[in-house]
Amino acid sequence: MQVSAAEEIQGPAESVQLVTACTCCPYFDIPRFFAEADRVLVPAGILAIYSFTVPKVYHNGVFSTELTNIWLQAYKVFACGWSPVRKDVEDGYRDPRFRLPFPGEVRDEGHYQDQTLTLDGVLAYIKTFGCYQKMVRRCGAKRGEALLQQTKER
Ligand SMILES: C[S@@+](CC[C@H](N)C(=O)[O-])C[C@H]1O[C@@H](n2cnc3c(N)ncnc32)[C@H](O)[C@@H]1O
Repeated sequence: MQVSAAEEIQGPAESVQLVTACTCCPYFDIPRFFAEADRVLVPAGILAIYSFTVPKVYHNGVFSTELTNIWLQAYKVFACGWSPVRKDVEDGYRDPRFRLPFPGEVRDEGHYQDQTLTLDGVLAYIKTFGCYQKMVRRCGAKRGEALLQQTKER
């Protein structure tokens, strides 16, 4: 494995078949990243940029507006300091700067990952978010725990 900046990918030209970037493109110098991806990809290689999005919550296999709204209420609090990347993520990378400057661009909005979680699993998932941890650094651990507890009770 090699670690490198997206704008200076380690590796020779035409050496990889796939370049992926999950929920990180908004942080990049995008034209430089695209140029680097183009350099390291073999001809007809694939560049895939994608992101997590705000989840839809199902209960026993049925979409739940109520549970999704509870998630959204918590998300609004812990993601409030996560800007401007948050806007790009919520927009589904619709800003023109994410358009791939290569032929054959495909936008796929039909691919979602299902994840089955218990209530405690959802709270643990929230704790993994960088923006949740940022909120805790800003507002204190008590505020973070209170938000999780409030979400659990709802
Ligand atoms: C929101 S996290 C997403 C992490 C992971 N891809 C995922 O989906 O869980 C954004 C990541 O982008 C990385 N990142 C930001 N700017 C970068 C850059 N210029 N080159 C490489 N990585 C960068 C950060 O270090 C961070 O790990």
